[in-house]
Amino acid sequence: MPSAALPPGPGLFATFDFVRNPFRFLDGCARRYGDWFTVRVPNVSPFVFTSDPTAVREVFLGDPDALHAGEANRPLGAFMGERSSLFLDGAEHLRQRRLLLPAFHGERMSSHADTMRNSADNAIATWPVGQQFAIHPQMRTITFETIIRAVFGFDDDASGSELRALMRQLFALYSSKLGTLFSLPAMRIDAGAWSPWGRAVRLTRRIDAILYAEFARRRKEGVEGRADVLSMLLLARYENELPLPDNVIRDEMYTLMLAGHETTAATMAWVVKRLITHPDVMDRARAEIVSVLDGKQLDASHVGKLKYVEAVINETMRLDPVIPNFGRTLTRPLKIAGRDLPAGVTIAPCIYLVHRRPELWPNPEQFNPDRFLEGRQSPYTFFPFGGGPRRCLGAAFASYQMKIVIAEILSRVELKRAPGYVASATRRGIAFAPSGGMPVIAIARFKEPNP
Ligand code: HEM
Repeated sequence: MPSAALPPGPGLFATFDFVRNPFRFLDGCARRYGDWFTVRVPNVSPFVFTSDPTAVREVFLGDPDALHAGEANRPLGAFMGERSSLFLDGAEHLRQRRLLLPAFHGERMSSHADTMRNSADNAIATWPVGQQFAIHPQMRTITFETIIRAVFGFDDDASGSELRALMRQLFALYSSKLGTLFSLPAMRIDAGAWSPWGRAVRLTRRIDAILYAEFARRRKEGVEGRADVLSMLLLARYENELPLPDNVIRDEMYTLMLAGHETTAATMAWVVKRLITHPDVMDRARAEIVSVLDGKQLDASHVGKLKYVEAVINETMRLDPVIPNFGRTLTRPLKIAGRDLPAGVTIAPCIYLVHRRPELWPNPEQFNPDRFLEGRQSPYTFFPFGGGPRRCLGAAFASYQMKIVIAEILSRVELKRAPGYVASATRRGIAFAPSGGMPVIAIARFKEPNP
């Protein structure tokens, strides 16, 4: 590959900072190299980062056969199997994505409102008043539980409880420092039940047994009246009327847990961080919630009215995008935003840096949710969920859940920052979350249902 043709970029040592402190790393690269820079990792094709909105547009609208996301996503797929839509490209990806989309359509979200609120309420009820606790693990509990119920459709019965316990162990392993190494195939060595990968393999086998038994049960008994995503996938048919094979559904279920729970939890932890450091914004959001709920319990009818809460979440995703970039590997040479790029490189539109361009976002470092009350944003300048034919499948699900959880938290507790805590971004699974679990203090609990 003619590396001379690629933009300059940091050396290997500086690149370690991408794992330690990704936001600092990206700021540093932008200062030093501008809108384009190349990041090199041993044994992986170079990543050409760009924060040029013209390039973002061309990537989103470009030929999916020339811009492979599946290939770029592959390191994420340690235990998800090869058949997840995350790893497919071109026509095969579109064919499978079409079957998943209806379950994530915005109009279906109202059927999950109660599940999302209950998951939040159960966690909030355990928060100690007057003592410091880490909010990020709490957010993970909420999003994990929501996915188990709304996506997998499992209750608290024996198989639901076992699935939860096993999945928790598997994802804790995956999110740990050791688990990060699973993205390298050479680290996937099954040296028995006590080796990290050996443990993952054994947990996966037990989870698979529960899932396949559940698929068989629901296929036999029918899924009438069920709103969960798994039940919809069991009913889905390709254009030739054939159902999705069980092993494909299995891979998609792991994908939805992986893609859905850490991302949403980390984003909500950042929202809380922004709220407790901007008490004026917190007061205004709470006033909106009190007015919208009008003394009632939060339900689906309220969610669309929480405009300021939505703006707070969007402004947080602008400044603290938990996935700061994504990638497309070029299958042939392409000219992008006037720049010739060779086949084999991965172009990485940088969400974090585009979201901070001063000509697009005046005073970019200022946290100002009002920006999102003043009309719609362009999909090429605000794209926390990516875009084009690979845009996040769960964007509506995540946005809906975040509004419910944040509204529920503000209705029920008064949070303040833990003394001396300064947040930086740290990797948790596939997302970047506030460091140290993001300690907070609940200083008061409001009378239910809201203040
Ligand atoms: C705040 C929460 C979330 C954020 C910030 C987020 C962000 C993203 C991003 C940046 C991508 C890559 C898009 C691209 O390559 O253009 C993506 C893909 C994806 N996300 Fe999300 N996501 C979130 C929540 C969810 C949830 C809740 C689910 C499902 C339950 C989900 C499922 C997926 C799937 C399946 C893909 C792959 C889509 C494809 O390749 O066709 N995500 N997400």
